[in-house]
Amino acid sequence: MVHQHCFDECTFVIFGATGDLSKRKLIPAIYKLVQDRRLCKFTIIGISIDQTDEKTIIEQATKFIVDPQADVLTTLINSFHYYQMDFSNKKAYANLKSFLEKFEHEQKLPKNRLFYFATMPEHFIDITKGLVKHDIVQKKETATKATDPWSRVVYEKPFGHNLKSSQKINRYLADIFNENQIYRIDHFLGKELVGNIALARFTNRIFEPLWNNNHIENVHIVLNEKIGVEGRGSYYDANGAIKDMVQSHVLQLLALTAMEAPNKLGAASIRNAKAKVLKKVHIAKVVRGQYEGYLKEKNVSPRSKTETFAAIKALIDNKRWRGVPFYLTTGKCMPIKESYIQVNFKKADCLLSACPSESNYFRINIEPNEGFYLSLNAKVPGKANEVTPVIMELPHARLLGPNTPEAYEVLLADIMKGDQSAFVRSDEVQISWKIVEQIDKAHDAKLYSYPQGSTGPHEVKKIFSLK
Ligand code: BG6
Repeated sequence: MVHQHCFDECTFVIFGATGDLSKRKLIPAIYKLVQDRRLCKFTIIGISIDQTDEKTIIEQATKFIVDPQADVLTTLINSFHYYQMDFSNKKAYANLKSFLEKFEHEQKLPKNRLFYFATMPEHFIDITKGLVKHDIVQKKETATKATDPWSRVVYEKPFGHNLKSSQKINRYLADIFNENQIYRIDHFLGKELVGNIALARFTNRIFEPLWNNNHIENVHIVLNEKIGVEGRGSYYDANGAIKDMVQSHVLQLLALTAMEAPNKLGAASIRNAKAKVLKKVHIAKVVRGQYEGYLKEKNVSPRSKTETFAAIKALIDNKRWRGVPFYLTTGKCMPIKESYIQVNFKKADCLLSACPSESNYFRINIEPNEGFYLSLNAKVPGKANEVTPVIMELPHARLLGPNTPEAYEVLLADIMKGDQSAFVRSDEVQISWKIVEQIDKAHDAKLYSYPQGSTGPHEVKKIFSLK
């Protein structure tokens, strides 16, 4: 293992510490950073309303840690302190402050504090207010010198429920913090192959001349899952596939695929380029579906009209992309879990007797089979005038090593380093919610049902005139 430096000494404060996200993703990610000796001196304050204790939480999270080692787990348990509170109880924040300072003091930690909001967005403002009122978090006025202790606030998705609520949260946060203290999470941006999209496009000269409407026929962005809503019926039923997946993950992938070359591959330029292209997105058609049996899921209304599948035809109104459809698809209860971006090129001019030959595609598999796939036409051996499609495979893990870190591990490491390139800026969030408003206007009330394990409603192909 390449030896890396320890991150700044710090205190993690996790709101929603007993939730699914904390157990499945955050604690395992912290575990990994401890195991890799990147988090060397730290403490964790886990907060929620539930009556539980640190040992139980770590035990539950251990199920999601691959090959857990006893010594690392012991470090984790010893560093984890549980604080039970109701987020809406204003008085509880004073005690939270003494609780946090006690452990900081005992461990001689500087006041570097990372506040992780693994809660629903309706709690974002109230919790932040409690932290501000009791001087638990540093506001923008006080974080001046680079050597000063820092406060960073991390907000999970969904960032609001709609444009209005996201604007309200953004306005509130902008009053309190500098934008460089705010990390809005979209965990897809921490996935190895998503981090690769801009790098592949802009460090390989072969792509840029072709990456436009002269050469590209269409682009497919697919984020399908085999699972249904699992235990998240009440959250999911209030949101659905468009708010849950399209507003964040799908539109971020679209932005990375379609953006103009940033001045530099740094946070500010990438975020400028993404925001600029998202502003040009126009929604042409939408088909919504719901899997059979969804209405019987726990905590789902028996008359629910929430979609578990969405197929969207989007256009981008700029010089590069005018006329190129972007087909965006996401669904639950699909045959397999797969996330990919496929750029389909136009057919080559016909020079052979048997035409047309297949068109080329470039595909980025986010998962499974992470990697790049380029389809080409190659001569059929022994035939003078015949080609057949072959796929040039660049399986990332096989070529570059299997240690692809989990998205949350990458994102937590970025936050510790103060790198915001893989986080969503306030304007991007708002533009995305505006696109969701366009989507809502573009779809009719019709909700097509589809069998579990199928590829979604069969009407999609017809409605989108796809072969
Ligand atoms: C989350 C959604 O953001 O992403 C879930 O809320 C979805 O509904 C999940 O299952 C998919 O993420 P991944 O990393 O498992 O592809």
